Amino acid sequence: MAESKEEALFQEKVDAEQKIEPKDWMPADYRKNLIRQISQHGHSEIVGMLPEGNWITRAPSLRRKTVLLAKVQDEAGHGLYLYSAAETLGIGRDELNDQLLTGKAKYSSIFNYPTITWADMGAVGWLVDGAAIMNQVMLCRTSYGPYARPMVRICKEESFHQRQGYEIMNVLSHGSPEQKAMAQDALDRWWWPSLMMFGPSDADSPHSAQSMKWKIKRQSNDELRQIFIDRTVQQAEVLGLQIPDPELKWNEETQHYDWGTINWDEFFNVIKGNGPCNKERLTARQKAHADGAWVREAALAYAGKKAKKKAA
Ligand code: 3HC
Repeated sequence: MAESKEEALFQEKVDAEQKIEPKDWMPADYRKNLIRQISQHGHSEIVGMLPEGNWITRAPSLRRKTVLLAKVQDEAGHGLYLYSAAETLGIGRDELNDQLLTGKAKYSSIFNYPTITWADMGAVGWLVDGAAIMNQVMLCRTSYGPYARPMVRICKEESFHQRQGYEIMNVLSHGSPEQKAMAQDALDRWWWPSLMMFGPSDADSPHSAQSMKWKIKRQSNDELRQIFIDRTVQQAEVLGLQIPDPELKWNEETQHYDWGTINWDEFFNVIKGNGPCNKERLTARQKAHADGAWVREAALAYAGKKAKKKAA
């Protein structure tokens, strides 16, 4: 279908690196794509609090507890920034929340895996937040202004998340043999699901081509995944831990690591709702929402009273 004048002007703005703002004209599909991606990103932040929240009461020291508490609180803030960005596109907070609570909305597959030992707090910070940073640094340059701007702050906080995770892994991997074994076990369980965070391969990504044209995405899923692997393998070497991929080896020609194959059946199964913790995560969010009803009612009553007083 021939491009309309508005669409041509819109693409010119994107190509000229001008940020698109809420009041600007935008193709309906650009808006729809952004609501899809930003809302799922926000849901990922909120659901992502659960696996780590599970260890706040069991952290091995007060220092570890306070650091983990700060990290989980950061994730809540990231979710709020992202929901606010999504609202500028015309979707309400209640609708976003309802999509999550009814299981209609997606969130990152990675949060449907269990956090079994304390070393998982290290692996999640190091690998999951590390992978999220790769993707979110790219999103600092996304074409939609209200999505790009909060990314700057989110990335600064994610860097702290990644460092605290890596520091946990460093202490464990240089600790007792039992601690090192716990760190290796966590790496074994979190490595491949972390690679899945970048999404399906480029050949199987229905959104990438259009998202790249509209500069929502600046790098492809496979490109970011490869950079993440290249960087993380070296970090694992410092830890003295083995990446669970027998096909991993440095390729002098490409100057990248060659690596094995992701279990895409597992990936699509998890995003279909059949991961180890999907049901548990949804139930936890539904319970939190129900338990918080009284706060919402009180806030609405107070706001209503205040508005009445003002009108009188
Ligand atoms: N988990 C769940 N669904 C995923 C997924 C994953 N890891 N990767 C891809 N998908 C879904 C997509 O949402 C899409 O489904 P939809 O059409 O129903 O929305 C489908 O699989 C096809 O994937 P595409 O690659 O075509 O989709 P995108 O172009 O949207 O690319 C993405 C996927 C790279 C994850 C992109 O959506 C993105 O950059 N999202 C924003 C960043 C984000 O969500 N990061 C991960 C979570 S944030 C986080 O980890 C928080 C941190 O604090 C720990």
